Amino acid sequence: MSAHNEKKFYEKSREERIDTVRSLAGLSQEDVEVLKGSGGITFDEADRMVENVIGTFSFPLGIATNFKVNGKDYLIPMVIEESSVIAASSKAAKMARKHGGFTMKSDESYSIGQVQVVDVDTRTAVRKVLKASSRIIKLANSKSKTLSAMNKGAKKVTCRKITSRSAPMLIVELLIDAGDAMGANVTNTMCEAVAPLIEEITGGRTILKILSNYSTKRLVRGSAVFDKDEVGGKKIVDDIIHAYQFAANDPYRAVTHNKGIMNGIIAVANSTGQDTRAMEAASHAYASKDGRYTSLTRWRKDRKGNLVGEIEIPMPVGTVGGIIGVHPMIGVCLKILGVKSARELGCVIGAVGLAQNFSAMRALASEGIQKGHMRLHAKNIAASAGVPKNRIDEVVARMVEENNVSLSRAREIFQNL
Ligand code: MEV
Repeated sequence: MSAHNEKKFYEKSREERIDTVRSLAGLSQEDVEVLKGSGGITFDEADRMVENVIGTFSFPLGIATNFKVNGKDYLIPMVIEESSVIAASSKAAKMARKHGGFTMKSDESYSIGQVQVVDVDTRTAVRKVLKASSRIIKLANSKSKTLSAMNKGAKKVTCRKITSRSAPMLIVELLIDAGDAMGANVTNTMCEAVAPLIEEITGGRTILKILSNYSTKRLVRGSAVFDKDEVGGKKIVDDIIHAYQFAANDPYRAVTHNKGIMNGIIAVANSTGQDTRAMEAASHAYASKDGRYTSLTRWRKDRKGNLVGEIEIPMPVGTVGGIIGVHPMIGVCLKILGVKSARELGCVIGAVGLAQNFSAMRALASEGIQKGHMRLHAKNIAASAGVPKNRIDEVVARMVEENNVSLSRAREIFQNL
């Protein structure tokens, strides 16, 4: 993006940033107006979305730069309130470029629907359900003409038996290719639609009919190589591996390590209108898939001593459906991102998670994270203390140098300037 004497993205004014994004992403004037506007939906739109609405609530939207994923360059819109996340992602992405960026792969967008059957003879019911698979699938698919027309939709029926304190039960699961949708609605609709048929087949009684958010059939996995010299040399590479091993072996650390990954993932999920709770729930469950909570990433050195990071994570995301068509900012963010499918979006989001994890570990294994955090925090404090825009940098530099960031100190420094 930057010719030698061109300003870096973060050095540009808002107008210049929007102009860069407009020309790289091919945004229309209308898109630019949306970006410059109030940040989203009207009261009436909000009032139709949820209940008891009294207003709307906005967050910062920034752009992560430098990302190359599967050979394609991306500008990545991120919506997040935490400082340093966007800068950290962009920096990691820059370092990853030397060895080709991020190589990511995504499963098909398979959603899992569950129908719970009780008062049932679980010994005979499984065989009966499996025998009727094609009837069940046909009925499920009659509920989505769109998916059926794309040769997607319900593909497979499986069964599991559960013994529980209340009763033995049969869980009938539908595997549904949701295409470019996250698929919660269609999955729930299909589950509800097939429940009477399942009752007829098994002689049992169905209770819950709902998708599973444990999205193990729509994983994204991938890797990136971070050049040892760019990372800062052998010692820091080794210390990052120690940091990773800490997370791999201690759940108290792993939760924080994975939280850092989710900093990146959720920021992109926010900007593109995803169900972030579903993503969080699936990710943390997946981190415990082997019976012990551990890191969602893995880190090692290659033969040349470069740092290699890998991620594998559930990715229940969509590029259509939900609030995607409703919220104007989401439409523009998807345009900026330039993804053509939910699976491509998943690859980009996975790459951001890996980048974020790299940056967090690199900072933690070297100078720590407070210095970077403090700089932005100090900016907020200086602004809140009434320091005018053109003097903020001086006040911030002094407060960070003194390690004394407070409203009163900001005022004092400004008065003495
Ligand atoms: C802070 O939001 C995220 C980190 O704590 C992640 C980590 O510790 O790896 C910096």
